[in-house]
Parts: sequence; C-alpha cells; structure tokens
Amino acid sequence: MTVSEVRKRYLAFMQSRGHVIIPSAPIVPGNDPTTLFTSSGMQPLVPYLLGKDHPEGKRIANSQMSFRAGDIEEVGDNRHTTFFEMLGNWSLGDYFKKEQLPWFFEFLTSKEEGLGLDPNKLYVTVFAGDPESGMSEDMEAVEIWKELFKSKGVDAEFSNIGSEVQGYEKGMGANDRIFAYDAKKNWWSRAGVPSKMPAGEPGGPDSEVFYDFGLPHDPKWGANCHPNCDCGRFVEIGNSVFMQFVKNEDGSFSNLPKQNVDFGGGLERLTFATLGTPDAFLIDVFDAARGVLEARSGKTYGEDDSTTKAMRIILDHMRAASFMLAEGVLPSNTEAGYVLRRLIRRAIVQADRLGIKDAILAEVADGYAAAYVEHYPHVQSSAAKIHAELAKEEEQFRKTLANGMREFEKFFTATINGALMAKDLDSDAVFKLVTTDGFPFELVKEVAAERGLGVNEIEFEKRMKVHQETSRAGGAQRFAGGLADHAEQTVRYHTTHHILLKALQMVLGDEVKQRGSNITSERLRIDFSSPAKMTDEQKADVEKIVNDIIYQDLPVTRTVMPRTEAEKLGAQMEFGVKYPDTVSVYSVGPIDATEADPKIPQAFSLEFCGGPHVSNTKEIHEGGKRFRIQKEEAVASGIRRIKGILD
Ligand code: ALA
Repeated sequence: MTVSEVRKRYLAFMQSRGHVIIPSAPIVPGNDPTTLFTSSGMQPLVPYLLGKDHPEGKRIANSQMSFRAGDIEEVGDNRHTTFFEMLGNWSLGDYFKKEQLPWFFEFLTSKEEGLGLDPNKLYVTVFAGDPESGMSEDMEAVEIWKELFKSKGVDAEFSNIGSEVQGYEKGMGANDRIFAYDAKKNWWSRAGVPSKMPAGEPGGPDSEVFYDFGLPHDPKWGANCHPNCDCGRFVEIGNSVFMQFVKNEDGSFSNLPKQNVDFGGGLERLTFATLGTPDAFLIDVFDAARGVLEARSGKTYGEDDSTTKAMRIILDHMRAASFMLAEGVLPSNTEAGYVLRRLIRRAIVQADRLGIKDAILAEVADGYAAAYVEHYPHVQSSAAKIHAELAKEEEQFRKTLANGMREFEKFFTATINGALMAKDLDSDAVFKLVTTDGFPFELVKEVAAERGLGVNEIEFEKRMKVHQETSRAGGAQRFAGGLADHAEQTVRYHTTHHILLKALQMVLGDEVKQRGSNITSERLRIDFSSPAKMTDEQKADVEKIVNDIIYQDLPVTRTVMPRTEAEKLGAQMEFGVKYPDTVSVYSVGPIDATEADPKIPQAFSLEFCGGPHVSNTKEIHEGGKRFRIQKEEAVASGIRRIKGILD
C-alpha cells in the first residue's frame, strides 16, 4: 500500500466508529513554551486529555505531522526518521481498553477495512507495573490480547519478559506473544517514566504492537531477541496509551477526571509493514527523492551500508526540512530555525560522502511536493520557497565546508609532523574546527578517520566544558521533541555572562570577583564573591545595565596579546586559573577607545577567555530577548550565585 492509502483507510475506519477527523496541527506549534516541535499526536490535545471539552466531541482521529529532534542521531537505520506522521485516535472520557485494543487489532488484520496484516506476525507488549509509583501490572490488557489472538487461531501466551538490567535473560518462549515490560518501555507520558513527569502532566500505561519482519537476530544487541530488541527484527507500529493518571505536586498520582485513550500509530511503519519490507525509506513517498540521489551520485540505494545510510539521512532530513520550511521556519541560529539548519548541514555532509559535490538538496526536496499533494497541499504551494531556501543555505554551508577542509589539512599536517605515532587529531585543532570554523563534530571525526586518525572525544568534551559550552541537551527543561543541539544559544549566554560580571562590579563594587560559572543553553549561572544578599533594587540595576549594553549592539572582539599587556589593560581573570604567556582576550565594545570613536567608552568588559562568543551583542537580543535574574542566593559564606536567563 501507499502512505496515502494507509492514511485514508485508517481515517475511514475510525470515522465509521464514531470519530470526528480533525486536521493535523503544525509541527512547529509556536504557542507552546514547553516544546519546539509537535512530537506526537497527543501533544496538541493535552488540554482535552486533562479534562477540557473538545469542540468536536469525545471521539477524535487524525494523522499528525510529528518531528522528534531527539532522534536525529538515530536516523540511518531501517526505521528511524525525525519527521513522521502519527495516526491517532482519542477517547476523551469515552471508550477504553475493551474497545481500543480490538479496534486496532481489527484495523491491522482486516483485509476489507484495514491493512490485512498476518496476525502471526504481530507481537504485543503491556505494562508490567511500577513499584516506585505504586502502579500495578496491566492484566486486563493481557486478557483482551489473549482473546484477540485466539479469535484468529493464534496461540498467544503471556510472559513477563523481565528487565533491561538482567538483559531480558528469559528470552521468548515458542508461543509467547504478549510481553510485559517495565515503565521505561510501557508507560507513556511526554516526559517519560512516572518519576520524570512534572506535576500536572498526564500519562498512563500503554500497550504496543510490533510487526515481526523475521530478520535474523544480531547478538550485538543482546543475547536474546524480543519485541523491544533493537536488532531490527521487530518494529513497533502502534501504541495505545491508557491515559488515566495525572502527576500531583507531591509526586503521587491521581486519576484524571475521565479515562482517556491516546493511540499513536506510525504511518510510515504501518505502510512498510503492508509491504513486508523492513525499510522506511522504500515506501512510495521517498521514491522521487531517492531517484534524484541515485541519479546524481551514480550509486544505488542498498548497494552497501554506507551508501544506504547516507541516502537515508538525506531523505529523512530533507523531508523534515521541507515540512518545516512549508510552515515558514527559516534556517537560523535559534530554536526551530537552528534545528532546521542542523538538518540541512548534516544532509550536505552526507551528500559529500556520496560524492555529490554540487548543490543537491533543493532537488531532493522537490521530490516531496508531489508525494504529499493530496493530504498536505501546503508543501506543494511552498515548493518554490523551499527550493530557494535550501539552495541558499547549501551554497553558504558548502563554503564553510571548503574553508573547514583547508583548516583541517593544516591541522592534519601539524599533527602528523608533531608526533611520529599520532593516533588522534590534535585536540586543540578539533576544538577550533568545531567552535571557530563551524565544522560539525561528527564531520571532524569522519574526515579524521578517513585519514587514519582518531579524535579524542573525552578530551574534546572536556574542552567544551572548560569553555562552559555544552552542546548536549543535558538539564534541558524541554521535552524530548525539543532542541537537540543548543550550541548557539550557549554562546549567547556566554557573552551575556561577561556583561553580567561587569554589571555586578558596577553595582556592587569592584571587589566582586567571579568564583565559578556554568552555562547551558537554557540559562547562565555565575558564582561571585560578595558579602551580602542583593536587594531588589540592586538586581533591577544590574538587569538594566546588562540590557542597555546588549541593546547597544556592541561589537565583541577577540584579541590575542601578551599576558602582561592584558593585565595592564585590567582584563578580568578567573580566580585560581594559571594563564599562558600569550592570551586571548574578549572585549565587549571597542577595546581601545582612543583609536576608535572617542565618544564610545573604553570596552565595557574585558576578559581573559578562549571563547566562543557572539560577534555583536545584537545577536543576544535577537527576537526581542531581555536578560533577567531568575534567582540570587548564597552558595557559601561570602559567595553568591545568580541564575539568569534571556527571554
Ligand atoms: N502518544 C503516544 C506515543 O507517542 C501514542 O507513542
């Protein structure tokens, strides 16, 4: 079947069971501060799952465009995509397990109304319970599944498969078909397991259906194969969440006012199940785009693993990029625009791997407009814009790539000359290629590997930490669908941090010294010496100075100079750090007033620092952002801590 056929059949099936079909919400919701992207069908329906009346009634169904930034790195195997459509049906306080599980089973197996899949190929999972939150095993679902399989003449035994920690050592018995897994696998909320859920978040046990593609098990993934094994034999095709709980402030759970069902089915996965082909990229919507890649590279999809992987990444990323551009997202250095930029850059790197040296992305994206014209005409009506934006971004990034490659060559030669038996590319070089030359880390790794060198990842991460710049989403408050790479935002906080230190000295006195700092893409934190709690007035003064400086659009420059000279200029050093004879100093505002415009004061702030920083403070207030002190508190005697954000 084609993607369109599966979508149509599902919506008709649900319509004939009393559901009102609603349109897909956008993938970039815009009005939801908790997430950048719609990453599941239930997301736009959260208020209704929490109890609000839906204008279309209690039975709703749709196909929702979804994007999971957290899966970017997974793309390349047979089933992961960042963009996908999630078929969904919802009971908003209406039907429950007894209706949901039989309906989905019927949809999967019915030749007339559904997909006509062989029930012998279906395996299901249920919730094993969660002692920590006092939730019990879902035996009701087990009984329903037993009956359903029996009705098709399939023996279906139940097995509590055990835990990940024990390696699911029991494995699968011959007739085992219904498996109980713990909360990590069979509890659903946007935030994951019960303990991770914030107060007010709805969630519940779920029951997933897997299709068995019969591939041989690869022991690299564990001794025993089972439905949740990652070897690729089993692919999850649908998930029925019994959303009946809400998390309380004290960590306990209450029943929601009404019991809901939140069903999500992977449209692409259901489609390739109908083809019996365990490959998401062989469904019809990718045909045209795949053809472009084959024609331009002279390679055939499937001819070898690296070709297949590179093509999958480009196909996935360009489909996601097309849908984002169609919604008006443009490549940029923030939020959704940054994720879009990352997709485009990753795709270019892969095109390069395929030996495609000239612009290709716009042509690949052209392949999607027709594929989706029936259900998502907005992609076709934006085709010209999508084409133009991709072409522009590709041209720019290819230049960066070319420059980066030249830099790489220099570093490569230096590394080889520097050590006879060099195993790794010099770590300073790696750091510079990533932070200064805009080379994605994974690319540095790949290019180095081609030349027989490794990259010391641990060292690289340390360097990134030293510079208080982490590109990982650690500690991020957003849900899994949110930002995956926050490097640019981190850089903004880094520069703001310099400005803040100076502002603190202006308000509290020159004795204020930095004693520690920590910067993520979500906020900055500074520890500084100061005897007393700040008053509200002092906080307001500091905020005002920081914002005034940011909004003056001052240049931020890096100067390399002898340490002694930097000391003479009064550049800030971090307490307890030993600096080399030649140092890098960052200034916010022109470093030397006499040589620049005499009306402009001496650089507002001057710090010993390796960077990276924005090149002008206007990048910090992009989109009207302002600096705000979130919290000021004591961390030790005489040491205060400020957490601040740009919002
Ligand atoms: N909301 C559920 C999921 O995404 C259906 O798996």
